[in-house]
Amino acid sequence: MTINFVDLDAQYQSIKPEIQEAINGILETKDFIHGKSVEAFSKNFSIAQGSKYTVGCANGTSAITVALRALGIGPGDEVISVANSFFATPEAIAEVGAKIVFVDCEADTYSIDTKQIESKITAKTKCIIPVHLYGNPSNMDAVMAIAKKHKLHVIEDCAQSHLATWNNKGTGTFGDCGTFSFYPGKNLGAYGDAGAITVQNDDLHKLVAMHVNHGRTKKYEHDFCAGNFRMDGIQAAILDVKLKHLKNWTEKRRELACYYEGLLKPHGFKTITVRPEAYCVYHIYLIEVSNRDEVMNHFKKLDIQCGVHYPIPLHQQPALKHLEYKKGDFPVTEKASERILSLPMYAELTKSEVEKVCSELIKVAKL
Ligand SMILES: Cc1ncc(COP(=O)(O)O)c(C=O)c1O
Repeated sequence: MTINFVDLDAQYQSIKPEIQEAINGILETKDFIHGKSVEAFSKNFSIAQGSKYTVGCANGTSAITVALRALGIGPGDEVISVANSFFATPEAIAEVGAKIVFVDCEADTYSIDTKQIESKITAKTKCIIPVHLYGNPSNMDAVMAIAKKHKLHVIEDCAQSHLATWNNKGTGTFGDCGTFSFYPGKNLGAYGDAGAITVQNDDLHKLVAMHVNHGRTKKYEHDFCAGNFRMDGIQAAILDVKLKHLKNWTEKRRELACYYEGLLKPHGFKTITVRPEAYCVYHIYLIEVSNRDEVMNHFKKLDIQCGVHYPIPLHQQPALKHLEYKKGDFPVTEKASERILSLPMYAELTKSEVEKVCSELIKVAKL
C-alpha cells in the first residue's frame, strides 16, 4: 500500500462540495481577475495571519520580487538570506538585480543563523530575507533587532509558514513584507499557482498593490512599469474555502509531528528543533540519516514516498556560480543537505501510516 508524501486527493475529497460551489460561483459571476473573491480572501488571510493587509499575487516567487521592488531594492544593493532554502528566494533577489549574500543555517532549527548576519552587512546591504523553512519560524526577535540597528528592510519568506507564529505573532507580520506561496502542495495550497504579500504599513500596502497590477491605481493610468502579478479569482475562491480548514489541518500536522517525534526520538534520530517562541506548522517533517540513499531505496521498494528539501545548497546551485561561493562556505547547510530526509506529512496521514514509516526507517537508517 502506497504511503503518499502529500495526498492532495484525500484533502480534495474531504471538501469537494465546498470547492465545487466556490469554483461554480466564479464561473457564474465571471469574477476572474482582481474581483471580489481576491478581496475576500485577502481580508480573511490577513485575519488568519494577523496582518494589517494582504495583497494576493500570482505565486510565491513573484511575491518576493514584488516586495523587493516595492521596497526599492535593485542593482547595487545587497540582500542577505539563508543558504538553506528553495531556489525562489535568491532567484527573486537576482531578478531585481540585487546581489545575494548568503548566511549559513542553524544546525538544530535549519533556519537562518542570526549570529552570522551582522558580519555580512556592508554599506550596500538593504534587506534581510529570513525564510521560515519547513514551517519553523526563524528567530524574528534577533532578525528585527539587527534590522533596526542597521536600518535594513526585512522581507519574511513565508512560503512554508502559513499560520506559523513567533511569540504568538504571525510570521509575515514582523518585517516590511511577508511573502506567501499557495503552490498546491503547501499547507494552504491553491489548485494552480497563487501567492500573497502581507504588509503592515499603509503606504507600502498601496505600493505593493500597484507593483502587482501594472503600476496603477486607476484602470488606464499607470504611474510606473511594474508588470502583471495578479492573483486569479478562481484560485482566491478555492483558497478562501481551504482557509476555513487550515487551523484544523495545521493542528493535525502538529499532532502527527509529535507522534513521529515520540517514535523516533528514543532511537536517537535528529529532528527539527522548535524554539519555545515558535509555533511550527510542519510544512515538512524532516529527520537526518547518514545513509539516505539506502533509506530512500528501501522506502521506494515499499512504496513509501519521501523527499529531500533541499539536496543542493543554494550557494552551490549552477545558476548562482557567478557569486563565486565554494564548497565549505556554509558547512551546516552543506552537511544537512547530505543527510536530511523529509517524511510523509499532511493532515490526512494516519497514525498507523506514521508507525509504518517509522518502523521501516528504524530497520535501515544509520544515524
Ligand atoms: C521557501 C520558498 N520560497 C519561495 C517559494 C516560491 O513559491 P512559488 O512556487 O509559489 O513561486 C517556495 C515554493 O516552493 C518556497 O518553498
